[in-house]
Amino acid sequence: AAPDIDWERPLSGKVAVVTGAARGIGATIAEVFARDGATVIVADIPAAGEALTQTANKVGGTALALDVTAPDAADRIAEFATERFGGLDIIVHNAGITRDKLLANMDEGRWNSVLEVNLAAPHRITAGLVEKGALKSGGRVVDVSSIAGIAGNRGQTNYGASKAGVIGMVNAEAPKLAEHGVTINAVAPGFIETAMTAAIPLGTREAGRLLSSLLQGGQTVDVAETIAYFASPASNAVSGNVVRVCGQAMI
Ligand code: NAI
Repeated sequence: AAPDIDWERPLSGKVAVVTGAARGIGATIAEVFARDGATVIVADIPAAGEALTQTANKVGGTALALDVTAPDAADRIAEFATERFGGLDIIVHNAGITRDKLLANMDEGRWNSVLEVNLAAPHRITAGLVEKGALKSGGRVVDVSSIAGIAGNRGQTNYGASKAGVIGMVNAEAPKLAEHGVTINAVAPGFIETAMTAAIPLGTREAGRLLSSLLQGGQTVDVAETIAYFASPASNAVSGNVVRVCGQAMI
């Protein structure tokens, strides 16, 4: 029989952590989760400061100053969620960075920092939470890949490798998480209008927008609503999947 779910607020009673939530896609995920009834913890680096507080206030959530690359990040997330709200149901690994450079100038520093934030940290946190049994049965992990991990992007060897890695990681983690009653899925956004893409040089930025058949960049809410589906009871039987949110682009 179908479980008894309040479809007006499908995340009611759920505790969710969204990383990189001070601004951009993460802030909109927090907003959509709060609308859907979740108790939302918004996490971002300490330097995000006031922006993180503002997002927390806007969505009626709680701020957690946390660099996802900290070795004890999983412990801190688990403790924060458990002490304040009695447990953790949903984690969205949204924090991500770019450090673009053409191949010849792709130094170790840029390579390592992007791989660390975008790929190693989500893995370390998911593994840590599972090891501690911190994610409740019925829980959700959602990772953020990118079209850059599926199709190539000039100057983004590090970023593309990290985001392709996210897809491999999600595929591999799904059976293990299933043992704990937890699903894991990923979104692969195309060009979305945020501070991250505003930093791209104008010509490349316009080319990015034109790759979408909508002929414009996507909005943060387009990504957030897809993630909300993966967080909701509606996706109970869906794990190990990647959904492209690419403005109907054929890539
Ligand atoms: P953004 O740059 O606007 O926001 C990213 C947030 O992550 C920032 O608030 C930043 O402070 C935070 N962050 C960075 N490093 C962190 C760390 N070590 N620990 C905790 N927080 C950290 O970026 P945007 O555009 O909102 O991107 C969000 C996610 O979506 C990223 O994973 C990005 O790679 C991905 N994405 C974005 C696309 C776009 O077109 N904007 C396309 C495809 C994927």
